[in-house]
Amino acid sequence: MYQTRIAGVGHYVPENIVTNHDLEQYMDTSDAWITERTGIKERRFFTENKDTTARMGIKAAEQAIERSGLHKNEIDFIIFATLSPDYYFPGSGVIVQNEMGFPNIGALDIRNQCSGFIYGLSVADQFIKTGMYKNILLIGSETQSNFIEFSDRHRNMAVIFGDGAGAVVLSRCDNTGKGILSTHLHAEGKYAQELINYHPGTRQKIRLTFDMLTDGSLLPYMNGNMVFKHAVVRFEEVILEALSANHLSPDDIDLLIPHQANLRISQYIQKRLGFPDEKVFNNIQKYGNTTAASIPIAFSEAWEQGLIQPGKLICIAAFGSGFTWGSALIRM
Ligand code: UT7
Repeated sequence: MYQTRIAGVGHYVPENIVTNHDLEQYMDTSDAWITERTGIKERRFFTENKDTTARMGIKAAEQAIERSGLHKNEIDFIIFATLSPDYYFPGSGVIVQNEMGFPNIGALDIRNQCSGFIYGLSVADQFIKTGMYKNILLIGSETQSNFIEFSDRHRNMAVIFGDGAGAVVLSRCDNTGKGILSTHLHAEGKYAQELINYHPGTRQKIRLTFDMLTDGSLLPYMNGNMVFKHAVVRFEEVILEALSANHLSPDDIDLLIPHQANLRISQYIQKRLGFPDEKVFNNIQKYGNTTAASIPIAFSEAWEQGLIQPGKLICIAAFGSGFTWGSALIRM
């Protein structure tokens, strides 16, 4: 069996910065509340006719491919993780395939929300390990600011989410103990209703009604408290599961890159694992929660800051809607 290594990383965030103070103008919230409850100070929102989920993904992908040293034509599969695709169908992966001028390689969209990047990484890893593909482009990209309502009734979600994209190029390598050591994936669908966007789904004969435009039922719903309580348990559990599967301990991890859901969640995990600050990478302060894009954006920034050097053991972990969660251990 082959092994999978991360050959290149990249990210793109829209130029439009929206601060907590900006949000104060639209709803009953405050910089103090948002900072204290989430750690977020600002986020990026897409610019219409410039940024789309696919286009932001393409910008991140171009950077990842360039940094990998590969030629675009060496990529033989695309995986695109998002909960906010350009269209209801087809997926955004095919848009990337077309707009980046790839030949007719396969493109798979992953619908696993905050865990989407880790689910995508795991799928790519299986394809590469078995020899089916050699180089896979994995993108996480989100445009969330246009399905949030900037109002009092949606303030618990409006202040958290942001837009952006990250990408990695995954490449086949010999089995020398480097690369992706393991991925662990989980789901608990009985909590699907706790973080959900019901409409316009397919359960109703008339999928979009006039009432939905005003009564708030088109907006995503989140039981923030419940998500938080499950997240702190599952994050720790799935990180320890990864370590145990590899006969490693928390001390062996050089850098933890958690999905950027809430700074308090990251800090709680940090405390539970006994990590010093420099072992946990956080950038939610600048970007908010970018769902499937948060880990690859953070990975790319950590790499730019020189925190991801050859030989280092990196752990990524995520939890979110579904509920779904997962982890991966990567030896660089
Ligand atoms: O990416 C994975 C999925 N998402 C997550 O992991 C998010 C997990 N959950 C969270 O991060 C937190 O639950 C939130 C940040 C969403 C909310 O923080 P919280 O400490 O759980 O607050 P809460 O929902 O218990 O609300 C406390 C109070 C409420 O007021 P009352 O009922 O005590 O009067 C809310 O109405 O805060 C109020 N509130 C706000 N106040 C100012 C809710 N949102 C806001 C807001 N500004 N934006």
